[in-house]
Amino acid sequence: MNMSMLHKYQFLAFVFSIIFLTKVTSFYFNFPTFQPNDEANLLLSKNSKIYLDAIQITPDIRGIIVNYSGRAFYNKPYKLWNKKKIASFNTTFVLNITPQTSPGGEGVAFILTPNTNLPENSEGKWLGIVNASTNGTSKAEILAVEFDTKQSSTQDGPSNHVGININSINSIKQTSLTNTKVNLSSGTSVTIRIQYFNDVISVFGSMSETSHDSMETLLVSPPLNLSSYLKQEVFVGFSGSTSNYTELNCVKAWEFIGLDIGDNNKNNLLWVWIIIPMVILIIGLVTFLIYYWQKRRNIEIQEDAYPRIEDQIQHSSMSPKKYTLKELIKATNGFNHQNKLGEGGFGTVYKGILGNNNKEIAVKRVSKNSRQGKQEFVAEVTTIGSLHHKNLVKLIGWCYEKKELLLVYEYMPNGSLDKYLFFHPNQNSYATLNWETRHSVIHGVAQALDYLHNGCEKRVLHRDIKASNIMLDLEFNAKLGDFGLARTIQKKNETHHSTKEIAGTPGYMAPETFLTGRATVETDVYGFGVLVLEVVCGKRPGNNIYAQDDYKNSIVYWVWELYGKGNILSALDKRVISSSEMDDEEIEIVLVLGLACCHPNPHERPTMRSVLQVLNGEANPPMVPIDRPAFVWPAMPSSFKENEDSSLINGTLTPFTEISGR
Ligand SMILES: *[C@@H]1O[C@H](CO)[C@@H](O)[C@H](O)[C@H]1NC(C)=O
Ligand SMILES: *[C@@H]1O[C@H](CO)[C@@H](O)[C@H](O)[C@H]1NC(C)=O
Ligand SMILES: *[C@@H]1O[C@H](CO)[C@@H](O)[C@H](O)[C@H]1NC(C)=O
Ligand SMILES: *[C@@H]1O[C@H](CO)[C@@H](O)[C@H](O)[C@H]1NC(C)=O
Ligand SMILES: *[C@@H]1O[C@H](CO)[C@@H](O)[C@H](O)[C@H]1NC(C)=O
Ligand SMILES: *[C@@H]1O[C@H](CO)[C@@H](O)[C@H](O)[C@H]1NC(C)=O
Repeated sequence: MNMSMLHKYQFLAFVFSIIFLTKVTSFYFNFPTFQPNDEANLLLSKNSKIYLDAIQITPDIRGIIVNYSGRAFYNKPYKLWNKKKIASFNTTFVLNITPQTSPGGEGVAFILTPNTNLPENSEGKWLGIVNASTNGTSKAEILAVEFDTKQSSTQDGPSNHVGININSINSIKQTSLTNTKVNLSSGTSVTIRIQYFNDVISVFGSMSETSHDSMETLLVSPPLNLSSYLKQEVFVGFSGSTSNYTELNCVKAWEFIGLDIGDNNKNNLLWVWIIIPMVILIIGLVTFLIYYWQKRRNIEIQEDAYPRIEDQIQHSSMSPKKYTLKELIKATNGFNHQNKLGEGGFGTVYKGILGNNNKEIAVKRVSKNSRQGKQEFVAEVTTIGSLHHKNLVKLIGWCYEKKELLLVYEYMPNGSLDKYLFFHPNQNSYATLNWETRHSVIHGVAQALDYLHNGCEKRVLHRDIKASNIMLDLEFNAKLGDFGLARTIQKKNETHHSTKEIAGTPGYMAPETFLTGRATVETDVYGFGVLVLEVVCGKRPGNNIYAQDDYKNSIVYWVWELYGKGNILSALDKRVISSSEMDDEEIEIVLVLGLACCHPNPHERPTMRSVLQVLNGEANPPMVPIDRPAFVWPAMPSSFKENEDSSLINGTLTPFTEISGR
């Protein structure tokens, strides 16, 4: 709840009060025309329909309209009188009566009655008003202004007459229209206006469709005390009928304005003026209380939640420290762009200096787009915080405040590996790395990955191994960064982030990723293989995102081809200055190992454990076919590995993420 909600309530109260006010002053509706959806506001008897922009009281259904009657009412009752007062009303409607026989029959009536049901057998001369048994009795409970088009009996007036009827088909007062301009059954529209005021009912008519002319001719105007005959609440509407003689009885438009006398007459308005401010006041008060209570509760949740997060984090050994947002803003000079170290998949990294001991840190500000839940964040901090390895970038602290999610890492003065491998047009001052350093970097990353895969309590997949995620400390020791974080943030943000961030980085992604969309131990190994080739060759991994088996542009394809030609050593980065320490055999082993990790069949890739054994010289590199095998899916496990820990099956320990189609 916030202030805008508060305004919403006030607005609602205002609207209600307006509705309330208008309701007590008048009962109003207007149908300039009738459309099928107006049926919702009307009560129509079985045979009556809205058709051709009019209420068809006795419609022409498949040409048979003999002996029909029908009724149509506005669906809300109108309060006609109370103990102190009789209401007054004005209504204007347009009738269109088209005879189908000569003469037409029988007529239409404007009616007021508490009973909306069409009486049985009310067709023919009964006009839908009464039937033979209710005619002339108080059971009928009806006032009708009849517009008769056919003389049905000797008591009935001549055809084309208007009459006022009470509980009967016989009129208390009637007027022939013979000497007026009004001809009911001419087939053209007739506008009728009925006023009820001061216990007099007046009926006007005109041969025009505009209500302007509706008071042209006064047809009949007898005094009438409606409260003597009708219940307090009545429905207003029309009835009509046909007999052997037929006509189309249509109402084309209808407006009604009635004084709404409500329940308690004069006191009503006063009552409303007291009630409405009170209602507004109460709503306002309740809104305020809810708002206040919610705010309090939020504060409580916040006060409450942080110790719990800390508890959880404290329980993990050597837990990272919790920093305040203030501390980190100060350390990074307000996330100043001059302190920016880089921009990664899930946020921006800033260099910072922590106040008291001038300790250098790297602060990752997770971008708002990849916002993750607090609990996931806790899970992440505890997982990453419990990982300790000399080749992993150390998480030293965290902060979750004001929806800012910050991770504090140790600062790596030499930056990321990619700066040393590839030629940057703008940064050509970077020294390149010699073979020993490259080998030690590969060895370090392999150790870190082996630790993540096999060495720690829970298996952690890195998912995004690439040169820019390898940090170098002062002695150029490799430290794998950004591990694990990908997992939880990705899930939250599948739709907002590109495939690149969901499934890794193009060029480092194993071919099966495009089919399965899931990260496994083997996809990590593949990424590592690409990294190995990259470090040795000083080449970018290339791009293989578009075609699943087209490696023409990729480093894997290129090295494999050289290997096929027996010339793998020519893949070595030309910038590596040869030294006495350098051992061609070692370079070859590393390159072949890199290729083995990039085997298209995930089952053929070595585990990180065996990679380490090869790098340590404890084992020979795996056999690699001279021609790069085609990528086949599903990949068949090789028979000799079947009984081993096939990590493609067991290795999917982390929840996998579907990648969106590319
Ligand atoms: C209509 O009603 C009249 C009188 O009740 C009757 O004589 C006549 O047969 C009826 N017509 C039809 C078609 O039902
Ligand atoms: C009905 O119309 C008459 C004359 O046009 C007018 O004086 C009266 O106020 C109207 N009554 C209602 C309830 O609108
Ligand atoms: C007249 O209508 C009433 C109410 O619909 C019904 O109960 C009664 O039977 C009808 N009388 C005749 C003669 O049809
Ligand atoms: C009413 O109009 C119809 C059709 O134009 C005509 O046949 C009929 O004679 C007219 N009736 C009167 C009373 O003028
Ligand atoms: C209308 O009729 C009722 C009941 O018969 C009566 O109490 C009331 O005084 C009458 N009103 C007028 C204005 O005649
Ligand atoms: C209606 O027409 C039928 C024949 O179709 C006839 O038997 C009957 O008497 C007529 N009724 C009246 C009231 O005209």
